[in-house]
Amino acid sequence: MADIAHKVHVALGERAYDILIGDRLLDDAGPILAERFPGRRYGIITDDNVAKAQLPRLLASLDAAGLGHTEIVLPAGESTKSWTLLGQAVEGILAARLERGDLVIALGGGVIGDLGGFAASIARRGMDFVQMPTSLLAQVDSSVGGKTGINSPHGKNLIGAFHQPRLVLADLSTLDTLSPRQFAAGYAEVVKYGLIDDEDFFFWLEANQAEIFAGGPARGEAIARCCAHKARVVIADEKELGVRALLNLGHTFGHALEKDTGYSDRLLHGEGVAVGMILAHGFSAQLGLAPSQDTGRIAAHLQKAGLPTTLSDIPGALGSTELLMAAIAQDKKVSRGALTFILTRGIGKAFIERNVEPGSVAAFLNQQRTP
Ligand code: GLY
Repeated sequence: MADIAHKVHVALGERAYDILIGDRLLDDAGPILAERFPGRRYGIITDDNVAKAQLPRLLASLDAAGLGHTEIVLPAGESTKSWTLLGQAVEGILAARLERGDLVIALGGGVIGDLGGFAASIARRGMDFVQMPTSLLAQVDSSVGGKTGINSPHGKNLIGAFHQPRLVLADLSTLDTLSPRQFAAGYAEVVKYGLIDDEDFFFWLEANQAEIFAGGPARGEAIARCCAHKARVVIADEKELGVRALLNLGHTFGHALEKDTGYSDRLLHGEGVAVGMILAHGFSAQLGLAPSQDTGRIAAHLQKAGLPTTLSDIPGALGSTELLMAAIAQDKKVSRGALTFILTRGIGKAFIERNVEPGSVAAFLNQQRTP
């Protein structure tokens, strides 16, 4: 039976669920699902890369447990988070005659988890779903907490729903097939948890970075600590009315940069977050809120992981500051036109600032462009 190394419970009342973390859990998915959700059929939403690397293991396990399934394979990449491919996923669920009581499985990285969860939230007015995250980013962040959705030409993740999964099954062995670049991009979200309110975790990451990248036991421990952190925040503020906004550290700048680079291979989501976190710390330092040496220490750590940390690290020309500011103005945290940023007083001391002057952000961004 499965080697479940870590179990994190997300105590959300009737929407409570477990996050199971361990090696080769996909090979045991059949018995795990059969025990928790007897008598269901499964609609697996995945992408063409994951379909080659991981899907056969999941199917073998479902077949061995006698569980019925259908597969919906979408193209890999951020541009899949679109109305068109969401429609394809939902129609696939309906065409397979999955019933409201059946389950959707989102097998993949953040893109598939977000789109698959959103498809489950609207198919037949809402079906249960299971997250099976196969990227580091998805295992530590996007598979937990119930944010689902797609992108709009107006901005990232602007269309979606809160829809909690019934189970998260994070198989550590799936991380072995990630490219170093994809793994590093996920690592930015790991570092984020330390920067928000856990300086000890950041220092632990500094000490354990090599083992995490090499795949030693510290990797599973890091993922479990991130999930436990995220679970605490989601339990406190499921719908992001307050403290959950802290999880967006680096994301306001990051999302604007992702939009500017066309959600393309030029800048992966985690890379945008890495640059965004350094900009958030740099901006806080410029406002006199945080020590500037912290920005340097964090940048050194992210660079060691192979991540970009400055605007000039992003390949190709960026749009004007006006364009970046227009993207920032579409951020979901904007309220009655006022910009909300996650600022910081130093490592592990992030806070929500609800009335940031757009002119000061634009001036800061202009400075960051000057070599
Ligand atoms: N990724 C941020 C959140 O789930 O709230």
